[in-house]
Amino acid sequence: MGLRAFAPGRVNLIGDHTDYMGGLVLPMAIGLGTEITGDRGGNWVMLGSDRFDGVAEVPLAGGAEPSGIEPRWARYVAAVVDEVAPDDGLVGMVHSTLPADSGLASSAALLVAVACALGAERSDPVALAKACQRAEHRAVGVPVGIMDQLVSLAASEGTVLRIDCDSLDVDRVPFPEDAEIVVIHSGEHRELSGSAYAERRSQCEEAEGLLGRPLREVTAVEVEGLDDPVLARRARHVVTENRRVDAFAHALAAGQLAYAGELLVASHASLRDDFEVSTPVLDEIVATVRGVRGVYGARVTGAGFGGCVVVLCRPKARIPGPVVWRGRPQGGASLVTTASNNGSTPG
Ligand code: GLA
Repeated sequence: MGLRAFAPGRVNLIGDHTDYMGGLVLPMAIGLGTEITGDRGGNWVMLGSDRFDGVAEVPLAGGAEPSGIEPRWARYVAAVVDEVAPDDGLVGMVHSTLPADSGLASSAALLVAVACALGAERSDPVALAKACQRAEHRAVGVPVGIMDQLVSLAASEGTVLRIDCDSLDVDRVPFPEDAEIVVIHSGEHRELSGSAYAERRSQCEEAEGLLGRPLREVTAVEVEGLDDPVLARRARHVVTENRRVDAFAHALAAGQLAYAGELLVASHASLRDDFEVSTPVLDEIVATVRGVRGVYGARVTGAGFGGCVVVLCRPKARIPGPVVWRGRPQGGASLVTTASNNGSTPG
C-alpha cells in the first residue's frame, strides 16, 4: 500500500516551559513539517532521508534499545516503531522542510509522521501524542512535555490550541483575520538534550515539592516564600506564564491584539530573566522587531537556548529576516493511502 504521511511543526504563541508542569500552552501548527512517502509491507521499517544522513533500519521484532542506535535520527524511528507496534513494515523516504534544533518541534514532527505512516490509530490524538512523547523520552532521554506531539496531531486550520497539560483538554481559539504570525530564526541552533532543559524541569519539580502543591495551583505570592532564589525564579515564571496564556487566549478571541502583544513581550522577559532560557541574540531580535510598524509583540518560542522568535503582527507587516515562515494556523497531521505506490518522489 502506497502512502504519504505529513506532520506539521509548530510555533508556540505563549506558554513555554509550562507543559511538563501540567500548565497551559497555546501553540499552532505551521506550514513547515515532515513528510513520509513510501509503501507498507515486510518486517522492517526502512527509511532514507533527504535531510538526515544515513538510513533508519528497524526490525519490527524490536531488539536494540532506541537510545543506542545510529544514525541518531533512527533512534526516533526505532522508538516510535516500538510504541506503535505496527503489523506491517514500511519502506520510504523522509522529507522535511523544518529547520532542525530551531524550537519548531522538528523531532515531534518526525515522530508523528512515522507513527501516521505506520498506521497508528489517530482517533484519540492524546493517546497517540503520549506514545510519541514516550518515544522521544526513550530515543534521546530528554524529558519533554506533550505540547509538540499533541499540537502536531490535533491542530486545525485557523485556530490556535489552548492545551491544559494537566487534564489534556484541548480548546480551539479562532485566530483573528487581521493578524499574522511570523517566525524569525536567530541563527543559533540549540541541542535540546545537551541543554539545560532537563535541569530547568527538575528545578520546577523541586520548587513544587517544597511548596507542597502543583505549580499550576500556587500563587505568585506563595512562590516568593521559596528561600532559594533560583527555584523562586523558575517557579515564578511557570506561575505567571500560566496566567499569561489565559489572558492571551482571551485577548486573541476578543481581537485585543495590542494587549496580546504586550503579553508576548512579558512572556519573553520572564523566559529571559526568571527562566534564563533566552540568549542575547534572541533578546536583540525581540527588541528590534517590536519597533517595526504593524508588530504587536514578539518572544522567544519553544525551549529557548537559541532557535526562533515568534512575532504577532498585522498581515504583510515588513518583518526583518531571516523569516522562516509566516501565515495563519495550519491543520494537523494527515495520511493519504493509495492501493499502490506510483513511485512517489520527493516533493
Ligand atoms: C520543547 C518540548 C516541549 C516544551 C517546550 C518548552 O519544545 O518538547 O514539551 O516543554 O520545549 O515550552
